[in-house]
Amino acid sequence: MFKTRITELLGIEYPIVGGAMMFLSRAPLVAAVSEAGAVGVLASAIYKDRESFRDELKKIRDLTDKPVAVNLSLFPMIRPIDNRDYLEILLEQGIGIVETSGHELPQDLVDDIKSSGVKWMHKSAAVRHAKKAERMGADAVTVVGYENGGATGKYDVTTMVLVPATREAVEVPVIGGGGVVDGRGLAALLALGADGIIFASRLVLSEEAGIHENTRKALLEAGIYDTTLVMRAIGATHRALMNEAALKVRELDEKGGTLEEMLPLIMGTQSDKVYFEGQTEVGMNYISQGVGLMHEVKPAAEIIHEMVEQAEGIFKRFQG
Ligand SMILES: Cc1cc2nc3c(=O)[nH]c(=O)nc-3n(C[C@H](O)[C@H](O)[C@H](O)COP(=O)(O)O)c2cc1C
Repeated sequence: MFKTRITELLGIEYPIVGGAMMFLSRAPLVAAVSEAGAVGVLASAIYKDRESFRDELKKIRDLTDKPVAVNLSLFPMIRPIDNRDYLEILLEQGIGIVETSGHELPQDLVDDIKSSGVKWMHKSAAVRHAKKAERMGADAVTVVGYENGGATGKYDVTTMVLVPATREAVEVPVIGGGGVVDGRGLAALLALGADGIIFASRLVLSEEAGIHENTRKALLEAGIYDTTLVMRAIGATHRALMNEAALKVRELDEKGGTLEEMLPLIMGTQSDKVYFEGQTEVGMNYISQGVGLMHEVKPAAEIIHEMVEQAEGIFKRFQG
């Protein structure tokens, strides 16, 4: 039922991308998403050296031979290894899809991606970045709206508006996301003109993400009003669960705080404690407003299959 330009382009069964998540998108989750008929995206930035990145790709290949993608982050960060190293290794390991994300698109990296022959998707939170990526040769563009977990960009445009606006602005296939947690979201974004959807927050509560029981409980209890935007003052707006650390960052935002002041709260090591040690208040717990619609921890395959079935049911209902 869901044959779209995205299923054709990526060689997948359903027009669904399981978005890359720093900390969580490792081999078990990525492979489970791809095995279920969507496409999983490995977050390369988790891996701090060439060997550990290569080993993770090998683990994925042991778990699935379906298409998988790797995210190359263009967000400013202290990165011990260069995106070109990741690119070289993912090509060596036979990965066929690369997703870049961020605002800046370095021409030389784009040239390397294009000449390698992989499929290239670029993700941003703005129509103008999508248009630029299309001009630079992206095979598909992804846009995520204000509801989304993680980076939200600076324009605060909702998924409801951003997706059709991007559809009008580019010719290449569009993947839309931000707030999608189930088949209602999938059906809605296809109706808005997307060729596929991206979702990630729902997968934080997949079995394979492997987060601590305390953190699962905090997320399952959260409602749609329990997230907040953080890090706006340093030009890196993200959406996270409203916990003690997020409220402190928000206070710093209001005072025009600096990166140095925020760092003890936003460092990746703090999020690791949230996700894997169950210290729910000490760091950023990135999550979408859709957290209020997430009621159970399930295997990723179940989440995806239920999403597809629910969307099919919605379209059938209107045909009837
Ligand atoms: C915990 C978490 C970590 C994320 N890390 C990254 C990342 O490292 N790189 C990236 O491009 N997007 C990242 N994202 C964004 C997702 O890939 C995806 O675009 C977005 O979450 C989709 O919206 P949703 O959360 O409403 O489903 C992250 C999202 C979450 C929830």
